Amino acid sequence: EKGGYDHFMLKEIYEQPSVIKDTYRGRLLADKGIVRLGGLEDHIKRFTNANRIIIVACGTSWHAGLVAEYVFEDLVRIPVEVEYASEFRYRNPIITEKDVVIAISQSGETADTLAAIKLAKQKGAFVYGVCNVVGSTISRETHSGTYTHAGPEIGVASTKAFTTQITVLTMMALRLAKSKGTLSQSDYMLHLRELDMIPGKVEEALQSDEKIKEIAKVFKDAANFLYLGRGYNFPVALEGALKLKEISYIHAEGYPAAEMKHGPIALIDEQMPVVVIAINNNHYEKVVSNIQEIKSRAGKIIAVVSEGDTTVKEMADYVMEVPVTPETLSPLVTTIPLQLLSYHIAVMLGRDVDQPRNLAKSVTVE
Ligand code: M6R
Repeated sequence: EKGGYDHFMLKEIYEQPSVIKDTYRGRLLADKGIVRLGGLEDHIKRFTNANRIIIVACGTSWHAGLVAEYVFEDLVRIPVEVEYASEFRYRNPIITEKDVVIAISQSGETADTLAAIKLAKQKGAFVYGVCNVVGSTISRETHSGTYTHAGPEIGVASTKAFTTQITVLTMMALRLAKSKGTLSQSDYMLHLRELDMIPGKVEEALQSDEKIKEIAKVFKDAANFLYLGRGYNFPVALEGALKLKEISYIHAEGYPAAEMKHGPIALIDEQMPVVVIAINNNHYEKVVSNIQEIKSRAGKIIAVVSEGDTTVKEMADYVMEVPVTPETLSPLVTTIPLQLLSYHIAVMLGRDVDQPRNLAKSVTVE
């Protein structure tokens, strides 16, 4: 049932090109300029008239929410807040009928996320679910929603659930941008076509697997890791760090690269591997100078770079290449090498990759 793979996690990582396609099948018709989500069509106005969107989730789903914050604010120009469901539910939050809440949950059973939904409903907000498990509690408790259609995710470490959540949330943003007129027709069409090319690009990113395995060998005994990214790839840095800690038990932290000088740079020495997402986008020059700061303190750089990159390649100790995409869609590809890196490290350390200690696949108690 692992389809020839050693672990469910690896199988699920490799399934991403096909499940991302499943996620947008019948919903994204790039040539025709159509994005259509059944659960969204009847509620477009609720979203476009909303004062703000509040996203509630936990763990990896919360990271998908952070990516969505960048996508929604950028493409749809609606203010977005992203909250840990556990904090939101207990802090007497300000919610009104003018708010839309999006709850993201792979399992659809996470206790804190469910409680946050109930609270938001009581306060009159419209609640939209992005779930993977069909018929799950959260999918039933929300007013409407979209399934990710990633298929069963068995590995405790979430992989394909994350990329398919981002796919759904990006499609939502594109659909709403179309109604709200916040994207030019050419940008809209470009995004549709580029989204349609993502499965192929994820496939390409997976081809670095052997090389990533070699990098894993070099760093498997490190006691700590830092993960850095900016903009759309800041949440990817958080997700990369979470993946490493939960399956390898190596301490890892994700940071927005510019926060380094506000504290974490004190940690850098020759023992510290720093994974930097340094793809060729708006922040490229800034990330390059962040890399220089780390290098001058003897930190070891493992960089995720765009195909054809030369500058970062020369500076980094190791690189993992990903195909070029618009920045908006880049988390869908930059996540892939980070998933593989943590997988290989955990396997080399003899960890129970699919069932890491102390963790459950779905957290149904708070
Ligand atoms: O089923 P959910 O998406 O609601 O689960 C949320 C988190 O428990 C989950 O993402 C967790 O952080 C994973 N183990 C991460 O890999």
